[in-house]
Amino acid sequence: MEARQGLDDAALGRDALAVLDANWTGRATMPAPGIYPHQWSWDSALVALGLARSSPARARRELLGLFRGQWASGMVPHIVFNPAYDRAYFPGPEVWRSHEHAGAPRGVATSALTQPPLHAFAVWWSWRHGRGDREDARRFVRRMWPLLAAQHAHLAATRDLGGAGLAAIVHPWESGMDDSPAWDAPLAAVPAGGRPHHARSPHERYVWLALGYRESGYADGYLRDEHPFAVEDPVFNAAWLASSAALADLAPVAGADPRPYAEAAERIRAALIDRLWSAPGFFAARDLRTGRKIPVLTVGGFCPLLDPGLPSAYVNTAVEVLQSPRFIGASGYPVPSCDTRTPEFDRSRYWRGPSWAGTNWLLWRAAVVHGQPVLADLLAASTLRLVRQSGFRECFDPFDGTGRGCRDFSCTAALTLDLLAAMEAREAG
Ligand code: GLC
Repeated sequence: MEARQGLDDAALGRDALAVLDANWTGRATMPAPGIYPHQWSWDSALVALGLARSSPARARRELLGLFRGQWASGMVPHIVFNPAYDRAYFPGPEVWRSHEHAGAPRGVATSALTQPPLHAFAVWWSWRHGRGDREDARRFVRRMWPLLAAQHAHLAATRDLGGAGLAAIVHPWESGMDDSPAWDAPLAAVPAGGRPHHARSPHERYVWLALGYRESGYADGYLRDEHPFAVEDPVFNAAWLASSAALADLAPVAGADPRPYAEAAERIRAALIDRLWSAPGFFAARDLRTGRKIPVLTVGGFCPLLDPGLPSAYVNTAVEVLQSPRFIGASGYPVPSCDTRTPEFDRSRYWRGPSWAGTNWLLWRAAVVHGQPVLADLLAASTLRLVRQSGFRECFDPFDGTGRGCRDFSCTAALTLDLLAAMEAREAG
């Protein structure tokens, strides 16, 4: 769908729904036709968040579709493949070979990596905002509960590779911000030779990392002791924290004990502050293989603000940096995905500069929970301005708002719906 600057809110919402309908496969929403024909994990969580207010039943189907791919260990894969498009995406099922792994689900092919665990937060959002039958909503929470509990238990048991209470990502694809300059240094340290072939470009290194993990039989011990990429990422952990808090809140609905989840949220918050908080005021990723923080400031460094419990001293400092000319202060179409003042910044390269609706939405929500209405309005209005100007693109040039990446991107469409609904609810008082 192309630019429609003069569109009123209702028509913009209809266009967003039309994109989501066109991308619906019957079980899932593909992120975009052509380039992303399967189901991606955090895209699905964001799509469910976006649909929760207007189409709660569809939001529920989206999440249930994704959890069909959950492994016996509790791991929620970052891609659930659609057999109709098996050959249309690399690396596809033939690379991951999930069917050879005893813990993978039968009858559905998946990847073996995961992505930011925003799913419990999405379930909570749909419980909180969903209109319609409350009994259906309650049944859904109960149905999802054991799946989410298993997902969280898996992260705690296998991914705290630093032993400090945070989850480590073991591949840039697990961050959701695949090409972020924060991964340049840890990727450069990935061995350039050896099996399975000489890995030179970043993409070859991505594949090399995935194949090394596969050759280990997707073993937890390999990740801990041998795998060369292990990073504590602020976005992944912000999602884990938000979802832990969501589970604590949902526990009474599911007839479960909220305490372990409230404790997990506290533990992750303390570890984020202790391990990742950095000058001038953001959360840096930490490379567990060097033991050092990665000094690259990206939009991900603000995502822990999603946590309502983050003490205000951290919030205020981070908001100052976010609003400075490094980020919002320099760009007419915020929020750039990388600090505009660093050599790594590139206004048109994937995750190295462009603005994304997904991160804008997370920061919009952060501004709302921390009582920053001016920032919240700016983020909501500029995200809507981007889609009016350039359509539901994957991302946008932060200086002139030109669309980048693919068209008809589901996350952008879904979060547009949520922002429209939020603004309407606010206007209605
Ligand atoms: C790209 C993005 C990632 C997303 C996927 C599908 O890999 O970096 O965040 O999940 O596309 O949209």
